[in-house]
Amino acid sequence: MIPCQRALFDIPADVAYFNCAYMSPLMRPALAAGEAGLRAKAQPWTIPTTAFFEDSERARALFARLVGADAEGVALVPAASYGVATAARNLAVRAGQRIVTLADQFPSHVYSWREAAKAAGAEVVAVALPEGCDATPPVLAAIDDACAVAALPHVLWTTGAKLDLVAIGARCREVGAALALDLTQSAGALPIDFAAVQPDFAVAAAYKWLMRPYATGFLYVAPRWRDGAPLEENWIGRAGSEDFARLVDYRDAYQPGARRFDMGERANFALLPAAIAALEQLLAWTPDAIARTLAAKTAAIAARARALGLSAMPEDLRGPHYLSLALPEGAPEGLPARLAAERVHVSQRGRSLRVTPHLYNDDADADRLIDALARLL
Ligand SMILES: Cc1ncc(COP(=O)(O)O)c(C=O)c1O
Repeated sequence: MIPCQRALFDIPADVAYFNCAYMSPLMRPALAAGEAGLRAKAQPWTIPTTAFFEDSERARALFARLVGADAEGVALVPAASYGVATAARNLAVRAGQRIVTLADQFPSHVYSWREAAKAAGAEVVAVALPEGCDATPPVLAAIDDACAVAALPHVLWTTGAKLDLVAIGARCREVGAALALDLTQSAGALPIDFAAVQPDFAVAAAYKWLMRPYATGFLYVAPRWRDGAPLEENWIGRAGSEDFARLVDYRDAYQPGARRFDMGERANFALLPAAIAALEQLLAWTPDAIARTLAAKTAAIAARARALGLSAMPEDLRGPHYLSLALPEGAPEGLPARLAAERVHVSQRGRSLRVTPHLYNDDADADRLIDALARLL
């Protein structure tokens, strides 16, 4: 169990922030690194040309270590949607085939697939998850010979329902379907075994559980797709881009690995140092220990919320870091805004409150949440 890490964050004592699934607070070391990076841009002669490469490579390697993937397969992307669009550009979909998603999946992991399906004469199906049941069996049943791509999250953003990605990866290989994952609501807080899952593509927006600044996401690309087509053609993705004097000796070859999929201006001098500081801290904590610690926090809150009439999904069916509390009949409208007025911050998705803590939350935060719910419900 990791002890409370609130001192690393700029969170006033009277704020109970349970909304990491919306946006994590930037930790102090990341903020300091970002400020120093932004200041360097005021004196560009202090930024060496090697800086265009070093921070990118460090961020790539740290993310790979955090999720247990190989660094050569990691690309730096601005958003989950960018990574999903890259996957959709490279994965073949034929007329009559199906792309399997979940009902209520996050839109950034839906729209590119809709376009791909429209272009191919294929269909996107959204698997409905019966409430309170294991999400994996209906998904496995939908992945059959007609499935071109299973485009799925590890943890569903609305309810926290968790998929068994090892079983889903095996099923995809069995029927010849590709697997394109959105790890935005899991990477950093829930371990994943890349070697066992074997996704074709996996994307993560990083401003939630990866605790990075906005617009610093990742795309993992499996070895078989690394010679694929990037979304854009930028100068730094081409072979020899380290030699600034010869950039107009235009080259057909790309940088090795998944670097061709990096976004333009990936070497962001303010955001990357902040992102690296956050990744270093997450690695020091380890996703395993984060998951264990957050499992205890969510279980304790679920038990107390149950006494107030709010029901939670069983622990083995949800992400350990993710709590979705079904509101009882007669719960007032606008509950998140009423809670926010008391400096307690959660989200509402449908008729459920989404409570997503992190290591900065302490027992006093949980007391404030439960006391406020008891008063407002
Ligand atoms: C599951 C999931 N994917 C992606 C995103 C963010 O998408 P993008 O990076 O395309 O803005 C979110 C934001 O809430 C999310 O919950």
